[in-house]
Amino acid sequence: MKITVAKTAGFCFGVDRAVNLAFEYADKHKNVCTLGPIIHNPQIVEQLRQKGVTCVNKVTDLPKDATVVIRSHGVAQAVFDEIETQQLSYVDATCPFVQNIHHIVKEQSEQGRVILIAGDSAHPEVLGIKGHCNGAVCVFKTAEELQNVLNQSSNYTEKQCSMVAQTTFNTLEWQKCVEIAKKVCTNLRIFDTICIATAKRQQEAIELARKNDLMVVVGGRTSSNTAKLFQICSDITRCILVERAEELYDYDFAQVTNIGVTAGASTPACIIKEVQKTMSEILKNQEEEISFEELLDQ
Ligand code: F3S
Repeated sequence: MKITVAKTAGFCFGVDRAVNLAFEYADKHKNVCTLGPIIHNPQIVEQLRQKGVTCVNKVTDLPKDATVVIRSHGVAQAVFDEIETQQLSYVDATCPFVQNIHHIVKEQSEQGRVILIAGDSAHPEVLGIKGHCNGAVCVFKTAEELQNVLNQSSNYTEKQCSMVAQTTFNTLEWQKCVEIAKKVCTNLRIFDTICIATAKRQQEAIELARKNDLMVVVGGRTSSNTAKLFQICSDITRCILVERAEELYDYDFAQVTNIGVTAGASTPACIIKEVQKTMSEILKNQEEEISFEELLDQ
């Protein structure tokens, strides 16, 4: 039995930066608040809470003397404006790759182009991206959804469109979206804004899923990039999603020989290590039980 942990599993550069900034500010300032959980990981959110960092959902919920940490997902321009109007101090931990999308959509929409966003319309990153557009926007989650939108309105064929993707969008789905949009929109500009860390992580997950008879995806159940890893791996092999190592005890690993482990961008290294350790223990106990039963049979 073999356990292989993906090299790309765990914190990406943007999440690492945001979490470090939140801890740094927690040590130096009073009344530090994050707008939404800093990452989709309850353990990190709890550690910050113990250091006095609170999490609020809206600018209007912030205390008057708060220092605000903008998380890596970024926020709409209106949120920055509101923070400045209230004269609150803040640190912008928006991932530079997300900031790049903000610049693109702002510039493109100011040229009167329709912005097509491949992503989840309810995800904070997409809400932030939408909030930097100054004109028409259309968000779609799948290639099929894009096709339906384009079929429904001739506007898109005639108008000038610029297409971007949520940084964690599925790379294979994005390629399908590009093909569809190219056929319909006569004046299309494509900006592949899928984060390289995400692309590498998804590619490694695909390769591991092909080689293993079980994939364990470690990450928060509300994390969109973890959900995408789970979906990608499930299409190839048996796959389970766990937030914590203890959850592994709920599964049956009887027929499993090779296990691949990957993790979302907001999963701390300590949780991945714990999963690997627990998984090894479960497999070791299983092997010992099998040997013991074989001994009894003789
Ligand atoms: Fe940034 Fe990519 Fe991570 S966009 S937050 S480095 S997944």
